[in-house]
Amino acid sequence: MVLSKNTLNPNVLKAEYAVRGPIVELAQNLEKQGREILYFNIGNPQQLGQPPLTYVREILSLLNHPKLLNKMEKLQDLGFASDSVERAKKIMELNPAGLGAYSQSAGMPFIRQAVADFISKRDNIPTDAKNIFITDGASKGVDLILNSIITDNVGIMTPIPQYPLYSADINLFGGKLVSYYLDEDSNWGINRELLENSYNKARADEIDTKLIVVINPNNPTGSVLSREHIKMVLEFAKKNNLMVLADEVYQENIYHDEDKFHSFAKVAHEEGINIPIFSLHSTSKGFIGECGYRGGYIEMRNIDDEVLLQLLKIRSIGLCANTSGQIVTYLMVTPPEEGDTSYELYVRERKDILDSLTRKARIIANELDSIEGISCATPRGAMYLFPNIKLPDRNYGDEPADFAFTKYLVEQTGIVTVPGSGFGQKQDTWHLRITFLPPEDKIESIMKKFKKAYLDFIKLK
Ligand SMILES: Cc1ncc(COP(=O)(O)O)c(C=O)c1O
Repeated sequence: MVLSKNTLNPNVLKAEYAVRGPIVELAQNLEKQGREILYFNIGNPQQLGQPPLTYVREILSLLNHPKLLNKMEKLQDLGFASDSVERAKKIMELNPAGLGAYSQSAGMPFIRQAVADFISKRDNIPTDAKNIFITDGASKGVDLILNSIITDNVGIMTPIPQYPLYSADINLFGGKLVSYYLDEDSNWGINRELLENSYNKARADEIDTKLIVVINPNNPTGSVLSREHIKMVLEFAKKNNLMVLADEVYQENIYHDEDKFHSFAKVAHEEGINIPIFSLHSTSKGFIGECGYRGGYIEMRNIDDEVLLQLLKIRSIGLCANTSGQIVTYLMVTPPEEGDTSYELYVRERKDILDSLTRKARIIANELDSIEGISCATPRGAMYLFPNIKLPDRNYGDEPADFAFTKYLVEQTGIVTVPGSGFGQKQDTWHLRITFLPPEDKIESIMKKFKKAYLDFIKLK
C-alpha cells in the first residue's frame, strides 16, 4: 500500500501528545453518547467559561468587518469604547490590506516593533524587532526552533515532568530527548546537580546536547523560578555551550505576592551571559486566554544574522502567522493605558480573572490534598495542579497505573485529566495533571465526584 501506518515516517509514530491522547478520545466518544464531560485536561480557559477581554474582541470585530468603522453612532449604541474604535482605525492605517491578506512572513512590522517595545519596557533591556517573529501560538515557535537545530544525534534537554509538545517535537524531528528531573521535594525547582547528571549521562551516550528547554512558570508543576535559579541555568548552559529555549507563556500567571516573573533574556543581559536564547510568549494563557486565535511570538537573542535569515526562510515556507492571531498578540503587548476609555473595564476584567484563578488554585489544591493518598501543593503559577497520587500495586495490564485511573475517572464521572505518565515522572510515583480553570460554582460538586471515584478505584480488585 502506498499509504499505511507502516509506510509513514517512523518519527510520526514515535511522537505522542498525551494532552489530547486516548483519554480525550474516550471522553469524546462518551460525549457523543450524551454524557456530560468536563475537560480539565488542557489549559483552554474559554472552553471552561473564562470570558474574553472586551477591548480585544471590540477591536478584533472591527478589523474583521471594517465597514463597521463607518457606523460610529451604531457602535456607540452598542457600547464600543471610543479608544477601541480609534485603535482599530489606526491598525487599519498600519495594515491597509486588512486581515484577509498575507502579511510579511515574520509578522506585521508594527506588531514586531510593538513586541520589541513590550520586552524593552518589561525588562529594561534593549530589544530589536528584527529578532522577533510573530507565530501561530507559542507551539509554532517551538516547532521552528527544534526543527531547525535537530539533526541525527542532537540532544535537547527537557524537564521531567514536561509539557509534551517538547517530547513530541523532538521525536518527530528525529532528535534525542535528554530528560532532566525537576525536584519534587523542593517545590519542583531546578537543581544544578540534576542538570549536570542529565547532561553527563547524555554525553556518555555520545549525544550532542545543544539546547535546554526551561518552562517558567511551569506546566505542569505550577512552580515559578527565582532569579538565582535562572542565573544558575544560564551559567550551566554557558559552561556546556548550550542554547536556551525559555517557554514563558505563563508569565502573567503568578499567584503569590512574593514571586516575580524574571525573564531569561533579562537575567542573561544583566549577568552578561551572551548565549543564544529563544523566548516564547503566547496569547493563549495569562488573563487573555485567546487559545483559539493562535497568537504568540518568539524573540531570539544573541543569534547570528545569517541564522536569523535561515530561520526566516523556513518561517516563510508557511507564508505567515494567521492575521487575527497577530492582532491579538499586538493587543496583548499594547493593552489600554490609564486615561483610555477602555482602561477601567480592562483592569477590572484582568483582576477578576486573575483573582479567580488564585482562589481556584488554592481551593482545588486543598481539596485534593485533604484526600488520603493524594498530596498536592498550591500551584504558585501557570494553570495546573500536579498532585502526587498513591495507586495500588496491582495488575493494570499494559497501562501505567495513572493512565488506568484517569480512564476510570472519565468513565465514572466525565472528568478528563491527563495521567502523569504523559508528562514523565520519577519511577514508582504517580501523578495527574488537572487544570484549575473550572468555574468556581462547579468546583465543590466536581471535587466530590473526583474523591468518590478515587476512593472507589483504590478499592477495586
Ligand atoms: C508550557 C507551554 N508551552 C506552550 C504551549 C502552547 O501554547 P500555544 O501554542 O497555544 O501558544 C502550552 C499550551 O498549553 C504550554 O503549556
